[in-house]
Amino acid sequence: MTNIILIGPMGAGKSTVGRHLATYLHLPFVDSDKEIERRTGVSIPTIFEYEGETGFRDREAAVIDDLCSRQGIVLATGGGVVMRPENRTRLARCGLVVYLRASVNTQLRRTSRDRNRPLLQTDNPRARLEALFRTRDPLYREIADLIVDTDREHLRGTVRAIARRF
Ligand code: S3P
Repeated sequence: MTNIILIGPMGAGKSTVGRHLATYLHLPFVDSDKEIERRTGVSIPTIFEYEGETGFRDREAAVIDDLCSRQGIVLATGGGVVMRPENRTRLARCGLVVYLRASVNTQLRRTSRDRNRPLLQTDNPRARLEALFRTRDPLYREIADLIVDTDREHLRGTVRAIARRF
């Protein structure tokens, strides 16, 4: 058995879909950001504050590498995981890669009350999300085996669509 890897931007629903999918398939659910926080004992914003984005990306790459040596997990990744080519290579070989797509409006709605995302602590989160989308959408597509539009598909439909392909 292989893994299911959820990729996509902040607010696409990777953690929510991942938890439900894992329950549905009776598989363990792992969230790479939570795993980084567990290993370091501090929050993602604290890692950004002390080590910068580069420090965070180094930790993220190490965690992805470790988690991909497991079998039969549902893995939710951070929105920027595709920025490093070595992560893209690793994830493409790690299992079924599912790109959860969401419009910027949906992303904004789902992330607006959240203080846990350093990249959105800006005067203009919409402009930030739009810029990230332009850079990252082609990278998500590059490694995706399946793309699910979470604007159109409700949670149950998304879970079933992924489970059918697994
Ligand atoms: C990031 C997304 C976050 C987290 C970190 C950086 C990004 O994860 O990894 O704040 O670069 O898009 P979520 O996509 O789960 O919010």
